[in-house]
Amino acid sequence: MESKVFEPKIVAFCCNYCAYAAADLSGSMRIQYPPNVRIIKTPCTGRLEVQFLMRAFEKGADGVLVAGCLEGGCHFIEGNLFAKKRVNYTRNMLAELGLEEERLRMVNVSASMGRPFTELITDMIETVRKLGPSPLNEVERPESKVQS
Ligand code: FES
Repeated sequence: MESKVFEPKIVAFCCNYCAYAAADLSGSMRIQYPPNVRIIKTPCTGRLEVQFLMRAFEKGADGVLVAGCLEGGCHFIEGNLFAKKRVNYTRNMLAELGLEEERLRMVNVSASMGRPFTELITDMIETVRKLGPSPLNEVERPESKVQS
């Protein structure tokens, strides 16, 4: 019998300015990273609410990455600092729910950090791979059943 290898699903919320530009640059540089990541572009990480992060987990993400501009470099002044607080708050919530807080991480990059961005993504994937599937994905929900 064939055993299935766990491939973590990672959702990466990337701010429109530095983080998305870094992801774009890594693509232009043809730097490859595993295809486990789904990037969601946001105007600024400061736009992210706690419920968006939790919703990603509810919808099946094994890990969530928030990528914003370097501290002091946010195009909306303090958006990434607000995001940092929300990410820390959400990490505490995850721990209370019995999920490992390492499943949620915030990183800060500049638009020129194509290769470091790729390394951060790869490191996140490997961290979550070691943790295994999200316990939330093991709970069968009525809406997850396919209707025919
Ligand atoms: Fe990048 Fe605010 S614009 S984090």
